[in-house]
Amino acid sequence: MAFRLDNVVPWGRTFEEYDMMFQISKLDKSVKIAGFGDGPASFNWEANNAGYSVTSFDPIYQFSKDQISLRIDEVRKIVMKQMKDNQENFVWTKIRDLEQLEKIRMGAMNIFLEDFERGKSEGRYVYHELPERLSVPDNYFDVGISSHFLLLYAELGVEFHINAISEMLRICKEIRIFPILNLDSKGTELVNEIRDYFEKYCKTNIVETAYEFQKGGNKLLVMRKNIANEFEGRGIHT
Ligand SMILES: C[S@@+](CC[C@H](N)C(=O)[O-])C[C@H]1O[C@@H](n2cnc3c(N)ncnc32)[C@H](O)[C@@H]1O
Repeated sequence: MAFRLDNVVPWGRTFEEYDMMFQISKLDKSVKIAGFGDGPASFNWEANNAGYSVTSFDPIYQFSKDQISLRIDEVRKIVMKQMKDNQENFVWTKIRDLEQLEKIRMGAMNIFLEDFERGKSEGRYVYHELPERLSVPDNYFDVGISSHFLLLYAELGVEFHINAISEMLRICKEIRIFPILNLDSKGTELVNEIRDYFEKYCKTNIVETAYEFQKGGNKLLVMRKNIANEFEGRGIHT
């Protein structure tokens, strides 16, 4: 089925938030990072500007800046209304209130929109839909990350997740997925099913993070392949 922009809720986060989720600033700057489902986050621009090497993959990158911008405008009010109706499910410490949340999200998405055409021409934003195979060699990236996509959209099912994670693990030596809750802020069996499936190939760990916006959403799934390589020791210590 063709990927449709009107099925996507583009909602982008910042480098600061990605750093709290994935401990990016503890990584050596020579590390190659792949962001899967990065969407309209300002992470790519901010990270590359700070000297990291980040390539973002997302199906929305097939659309134009104007189309993505229009879709952001369409969903903005709907998402903010949902946030207002469900405020009790979130932790309002780092982000104080709805007004600040909207400011941070719109700020991040505006940075993305301004950077999008240039980033695309530089190969930093790549149109790709998981679990499709990428024309990228095995182990090309050191770390692959997924923020608020895999596991969150648990209804995509076990098979989708296994196929998507298999492709991520083919091109990345290690992957990190945050959060490990679904959209209702609930833990699901999916995490255990994935850990069981990949047990033979990976060391998997659940690590507590400094980031918690969804209540109870302060855990990161880390999956490191069982291969001896130069990356050993550069990642987070689990
Ligand atoms: C809620 S947004 C999260 C954006 C960003 N990761 C962040 O945390 O700020 C979810 C993203 O997943 C992307 N997505 C949806 N289906 C996908 C797929 N099959 N493969 C990769 N990304 C997908 C959407 O286009 C969207 O940008």
